[in-house]
Formats: sequence, C-alpha cells, structure tokens
Amino acid sequence: MMAISLTWGIVVVVCCCLWLFLGIRRRKMGEPPLENGLIPYVGCALQFGANPLEFIRSNQRKHGHVFTCKLMGKYVHFFTNPLSYHKVLCHGKHFDWRKFHFTTSAKVFGHRSLDPSDGHTTENINKTFIKTLQGDALNALTGAMMENLLLVMRPSTLPKPNTAAWVTEGMYSFCYRVMFEAGYLTLFGKDLTRQDSQRALMLSNLDNFKEFDKIFPALVAGLPIHVFKAAHNAREKLAEDLRSENLRRRDRVSDLVSMRMLLNDQLSTFDDAEKAKTHLVVLWASQANTIPATFWSLFQTIRSPEAMKAAIEEVNKTLENAGQKISFEGNPVCLNQMQLNDMPVLDSIIKESLRLSSASLNIRAAKEDFTLQIEEGSFNIRKDDFIAFYPQLMHFDAQIYPDPLTFKYDRFLDESGKAKTNFYSNGHRLKYYYMPFGSGATICPGRLFAVHEIKQFLILMLSYFELGLVESDVQCPPLDQSRAGLGILPPSHDVEFKYKFKYL
Ligand code: HEM
Repeated sequence: MMAISLTWGIVVVVCCCLWLFLGIRRRKMGEPPLENGLIPYVGCALQFGANPLEFIRSNQRKHGHVFTCKLMGKYVHFFTNPLSYHKVLCHGKHFDWRKFHFTTSAKVFGHRSLDPSDGHTTENINKTFIKTLQGDALNALTGAMMENLLLVMRPSTLPKPNTAAWVTEGMYSFCYRVMFEAGYLTLFGKDLTRQDSQRALMLSNLDNFKEFDKIFPALVAGLPIHVFKAAHNAREKLAEDLRSENLRRRDRVSDLVSMRMLLNDQLSTFDDAEKAKTHLVVLWASQANTIPATFWSLFQTIRSPEAMKAAIEEVNKTLENAGQKISFEGNPVCLNQMQLNDMPVLDSIIKESLRLSSASLNIRAAKEDFTLQIEEGSFNIRKDDFIAFYPQLMHFDAQIYPDPLTFKYDRFLDESGKAKTNFYSNGHRLKYYYMPFGSGATICPGRLFAVHEIKQFLILMLSYFELGLVESDVQCPPLDQSRAGLGILPPSHDVEFKYKFKYL
C-alpha cells in the first residue's frame, strides 16, 4: 500500500515538474506581460469566466493596457485601450479572423468546417452574408419583418372599442416569442402545406431553440453536446425543420436562405443533415442577440418616462410624414430604409440599451509571428495566439460615457437632435466607441437588419398598445453573466409588464 502511494506521489510530482518546465509559457523579450494562471491547461479561464469585466480590469490595473492570459490552453492577448483599437485592426494582414469562428461554429452546430481552406466547401460565406443582409436585400427583409411582426402581434380577434383588457406577461418571454416567430418567418418563410399546424410548429421550434441556446456557452467552452441530451435533441429537431426538403415547401424564403441553399448544393460536399446545420447557424446568429437586445430596448423605454415620450413623438411624426396609419386591418405599415434610418431617438435608445447589455469578445488568431505596433509600444505576437478586445470595458468607461451604468436615452444624440458621433478618451476623439456588433473584418453582417427589426418592434409596440410595468418602481434586472463573451446578455430574471390593445 505504502509503495503504491509512494509511486503515485512520485508520478504526480514528476508531472507537476514536467508541466512547470514544459507546459508553462515563459514570456520572451518584447512580448506583453503574461498571466499563466495556476491550473494546467485551464490557465485563467475560471477567473475570466466568473466575471470577465472584473478579470480584465484587474489585469489592466496590474499590467497596463496590453497583457496576455492563458485561457483553456490558448494564449489570448488583450488590448484594452480603445484609442489603440484602430491601430490593432490595421495589422489585419497578420490575422486569421475565420479560424476561431469556423472552428467554434463546427463544434457547436455539428457540421464540418465552413472554412474553404479545409476543403468541404468553396463558398465564401461572409460574402453571402453581406450580399443578402445589406444593400437592396435589406429592403425585402425589412418589409417581410414588418408583415410578420404584425401577424404575430395581432390579437386573434380584434377587441371592440373600449373593451380591451390588460394582459400581463413576462417582458422577456414576450420579446422572445414575438421576435423569434417573426424573425424565423422572415428568414425561412411560411410552410404553405402545413398552415394548420404552423403555430404549433413554431412553438415547438421556440422551445427547442431555448433548450439549445441555454447550453451554448458550455458548447463554446468546449463541452461536447452529447453531455446535454435534451439540448442535443433540440438541436437535431431544429435542424430537421431546416432540411432542404422542408425548406423547399416554404414560401417567401429570404434571399439569404435561398442563396445559401443554392451555394450549399453547388459548392459544398455537405450532406443534407449538415446543410441543415449550416442554416441553423444563421437561425442562431439572427436570434440569439436580437432577442435580448429587443428586451432591453423595450424595458429601458418603458421604464424611462422621458424616453417613452420622446420615442412616441418620433414614431408619430415618422408615420405622419410617411402618410402611414397604424391599423391591424387594411394595409400593413410600410416604412422604407430611409424613413427607418431617420429616427435618431429610437436609434439612440437602441444604442444605449445595447451599450449597457453587450458583452462580446472580439477575437482573431495570429497567422504568423509578427510585431504589433501601437501607441503603448511594440508587442511580439506568436503564431496561433489570439488577439482580443472586450468592448464592455470601453462601454462602461466613465471617461467616455459619464455615469456609465445609468440609462440615458439621449446619450447618442447631439444638441440638434441628430446622431452623436464624437466621444473622447483622454481628450482624444475615439474612432471606435460603440462595438456591440464587433469590429473590422468580423463585424456582424446583420447589424443593419438587427437595428431595423428592433425599431420596427418598438414602432408597433408604441403605436398599438398602452404599455406599463406591473411594479412601477421595478429595479433593472442584473445581466446574466453566464453568457459573457457571446454578445448581448439577457436579464437574469424576467420583468412583468402589462399591455392593452389601443383601439385604432
Ligand atoms: C442586436 C442584434 C445583434 C448583435 C448584437 C450581433 C452581434 C454580432 C457579433 C458581435 C458578431 C461576431 C462579430 C465578431 O466576431 O467580431 C456577429 C456575427 C454574426 N451575426 Fe450578428 N448580431 C446581431 C444580430 C444579427 C442578425 C439579425 C443577423 C441576421 C442574420 C446576424 C447575423 C450574423 C452573422 C451571420 C454573423 C457571423 C458572421 C461571420 O462569422 O462571418 N446578426 N453578430
């Protein structure tokens, strides 16, 4: 017994020594200060995961604006001075922005790599996204979204004048239900062959999406989906509905999805199940951030009487100028891109809501060893290391945004009521001051559509319903930090609100 314990003791000590000598990276000349963490492989991942903002702030206090942390076997160089962001991004030729995204997507959604250099497809998927989510394509998407929002929000029977009753519901559940259904129909169209069961199918997709999305952070962290049986089933069911034979039955499928179907067929070696999983990527990207962003925009508007007043005035003015009348009957409201873009108050409300709730990690891999030159100095970066920004740090910087934790609906408006674009750090004007959609080559291709969707939702909510909070002095719910790094954080609990149909 004694001998066995001794042998095991020696094995453990030898492993520790090997780890100390071989496993720990030593900082070389010219490299940023390094935090290896105490746990082999994991490095600092537990502290980072527990509270990324606090972790980065404390390293910034210790090391300055640039430092390196080991996170799950990878070395991540954090650049925390927003004044240097543009200089960092100027080193684009040394970055491989696709590697991290494609590897993560394959791991989480269960398809083979979408990176053309891996040989399973020659589609440049980013080009497809830009072509079908921006420019002319945005008009069609926006028009379809307005119709679908009306379809989902419209009560099944219109109440008679003065008989509408208050409905009470969790605001997050409400936003989830409405945005999921309207967004799904907008991208993937309607199944005309199964009209009767359309609603039940949508509710089942909604439940499956919630189940899958719940474990998304664990999947990104590297846990296999098979550990989560219910989420695995949910993912497979969602993908089943997105198989080509099911999509072909659907009417008014968006350009994005039709083009992806065509290119999948022409340019990839994916089988039907994998093709469906690449559509699931689009479904997730279009919903996972938009839903919490919609919640925060509505919650902050309802909670602030000044925001509510300014928003209603702007909505009424826009509809009047466009000669549009809100009605559940007759023609749906139709605002073109120019009219939607000319709503600075709603823009400011949405921006401020996203500033307060976004926690995305912008990440790129180094293609080769190179030296990164910024105001703070020159830093040697090794091949396969990651370069990261954590914009929440900037969004909560009191120098850039005074009183940073307070919602100010007009923070992004200038004196003349137009969009404010001059924000300063240390007396210098910032090129990058607002980054919930990422930056540079990896910036979200759906950002214009996302803002239009949220705006359309707010326009309809403010026009069709009287709105109120069940508890008028309700506290702002804390952000659900378990999703930090992934985008817009949802509230950690729901907030009850009430709405009543206005007879129009
Ligand atoms: C408020 C809503 C949204 C937010 C905050 C958001 C944010 C983001 C962020 C941070 C990224 C990653 C950027 C990076 O890694 O640097 C991203 C990627 C992406 N987003 Fe969005 N997004 C939103 C809505 C949408 C919508 C409505 C769509 C529509 C389909 C969309 C489509 C995509 C796609 C396809 C990608 C992946 C791009 C690629 O890897 O090539 N997003 N988004």
